[in-house]
Amino acid sequence: MPKFKVAVTRRLPPACEERLAATYDTRFGADDAVFDASTLAQHADGADAVIVTPADACNAAAIAALPASVRVISCFSVGFEHVDLDAAKRRKLRVTNTPDVLTEATADIALLLLLGASRRATEGDQLMRDGKWIGLRPTLLLGTQVTGKRLGIVGMGRIGAAFADRARACGMKVLYHNRRPSRDAGDATYVASLDELLAQSDVLSLHCPLTPDTKGLLDAARLARLPKGAIVINTARGPLIDDDALIAALKSGQIGAAGLDVFANEPQFHPGYLDLPNVMLLPHLGSATLETRTAMGMLAIDNIDAVMAGREPPHAVV
Ligand code: DGY
Repeated sequence: MPKFKVAVTRRLPPACEERLAATYDTRFGADDAVFDASTLAQHADGADAVIVTPADACNAAAIAALPASVRVISCFSVGFEHVDLDAAKRRKLRVTNTPDVLTEATADIALLLLLGASRRATEGDQLMRDGKWIGLRPTLLLGTQVTGKRLGIVGMGRIGAAFADRARACGMKVLYHNRRPSRDAGDATYVASLDELLAQSDVLSLHCPLTPDTKGLLDAARLARLPKGAIVINTARGPLIDDDALIAALKSGQIGAAGLDVFANEPQFHPGYLDLPNVMLLPHLGSATLETRTAMGMLAIDNIDAVMAGREPPHAVV
């Protein structure tokens, strides 16, 4: 009996590729290049399922161009803002995602950015590489102590809560803003007004989904509400931040430092960040451990297995 066909836009961790090869006729994107609507359609020619990453825009045009054979768009991500869900529904396509398994890894990256930005890790690393270290100096690269500081979390979901646990271990006081109080928040203080949360946050970390309502959430006016010298962390989605405004605030000292793992228009990012020593930049590494990326791939395949077997996928978005 012929195997179902799966088109994957990127290479996957070895265990996922082995599992796919055992069950499906699988095709991978050759060089991890970003797929646009027409290349995605070509790649998916004859496929029953596609596995896409957040970098592959599955907008209405891309979905309309997909071959009729495709039954499911399996997102290799918890986020699915890159998929036009209405367009998928119109085509009667299932859309699935990979929640839960990347919570801890993403919270770890938020902690890395928090400590890296507050302790000037990028500047220290650069100084060593430039051969400029002349020994311990009491005034060299003085950072900001996080112990005792207030962390404001925007979006207390699974990842926000896991980051809050890490921040508490560092002696931080945690506050958060959500549309409503969260059961996962532990002893974190709920702040009903985002503006009020900003005013009380020595560190602000974004963990909310990207939606039309949250796009540009951290703009010039909101950055100005943070205490002077506050630190901004983003491991959620790049377009939550107005880059021009953040760059201006980092230059003026209104924002002391930032740690960014996600960017608008990835893999592009605002070149203004490159001139700023007080920004730590990572290339969307939030879930990038072998364990987590393997678990994400396995969930993406579980979702496809279910659709191919006529069952409800375990992680259906639509
Ligand atoms: C996700 O799953 O949405 C992440 O951004 C991928 O690391």
